[in-house]
Amino acid sequence: MPLLSGANPADVETCAQRLAAGELVAFATETVYGLGANALDDVAVAAIYAAKGRPAGHPLIVHVASLEAALHFSPALGASARKLLSAFWPGPLTVIGPRAVGVGVAAAGGQDSIGLRMPAHPVAMALLRQAAALGVMGVAAPSANRFGRVSPTTAAHVQQEFGPSLTVLDGGACTVGIESTILDCTCDPPVLLRPGQLGSAALEQRLGHSLGQRGLHTPRAPGSLKSHYAPRTPVRLMQAADLAAALAGLAGPEQGGQAVQRVAVYSRHAFTDQEAVLAWRQMPESAADAARELFSVLRDLDDLAVDTIWVEQPPASADWDGVRDRLQRAAAV
Ligand code: TXA
Ligand code: MG
Repeated sequence: MPLLSGANPADVETCAQRLAAGELVAFATETVYGLGANALDDVAVAAIYAAKGRPAGHPLIVHVASLEAALHFSPALGASARKLLSAFWPGPLTVIGPRAVGVGVAAAGGQDSIGLRMPAHPVAMALLRQAAALGVMGVAAPSANRFGRVSPTTAAHVQQEFGPSLTVLDGGACTVGIESTILDCTCDPPVLLRPGQLGSAALEQRLGHSLGQRGLHTPRAPGSLKSHYAPRTPVRLMQAADLAAALAGLAGPEQGGQAVQRVAVYSRHAFTDQEAVLAWRQMPESAADAARELFSVLRDLDDLAVDTIWVEQPPASADWDGVRDRLQRAAAV
């Protein structure tokens, strides 16, 4: 049975055994579902790249159940990183540290640094502990979607991406909904590579000083490609007033033979009175609620076979950084 239950210890054990045998297992985390393989097994890790269609030079995040395991991959992890993970692990924070020579080469995409995260989801942690007991010290896992596509936040999303033969450890719908905050800690002060639910202010408060600026030496992070996390349907991101104007300018029989666009809208303001709006989903008031449902909403709207998805630009405040980042990438061409 490829869909296994994270609530069933026997199923968790089966998944740990499959990881130890070099197989791929998708599993729930609090951010998004991951597509996992034994991070110490370069052949198993190569299968992740193949399944995702991900270019080989793009590094993966290694998930660990203990600090010792993290230090196995990055023994020289710096003081700032250790301070942050003591405060925020387990949780939606990935730190990038210098990689131990010869360890996790494929997982790191050949780079001399490695991304590490201890997830807060009980199913992910149960799997990581069981796998560690079988010698799997870390599980390399990118989001369980095909390269460039919307990350999965339910087991059903993973099956839509990869079909029924992939083993998926179900842990319900992800509670955070967008990927972890990534900090490059190979430099000091650390530099934010990808915003997530855990914001800069909390990280800086814990560090006691500001994060660094992104410089030329900053490693490549494909999650920071301009176009990423994208549905198949084109996405346009607009301020509320522009969205209203664009909708008002749409369609109508008087539009001299121009083909009418079928539009789905995701916005904080209601636009249901507009004829051209085929479907409308209301964006929640809080950034955390919006993040939780974001990828699921994009998938739903993508499935409607509309011509375009129009999204209202979320508020400019820092709590919306993660959601704004994902929407900008979904809208980038
Ligand atoms: O929340 C998450 O982080 C999820 C769950 C499954 O834990 N994982 C995830 O993995 O989002 P992925 O592969 O989709 O994104 C990993 C990001 C990529 O942008 C990658 O470039 C960056 O992490 N990354 C990993 N190791 C890196 C390294 N050594 N240097 C620079 N960037 C790195
Ligand atoms: Mg991803």
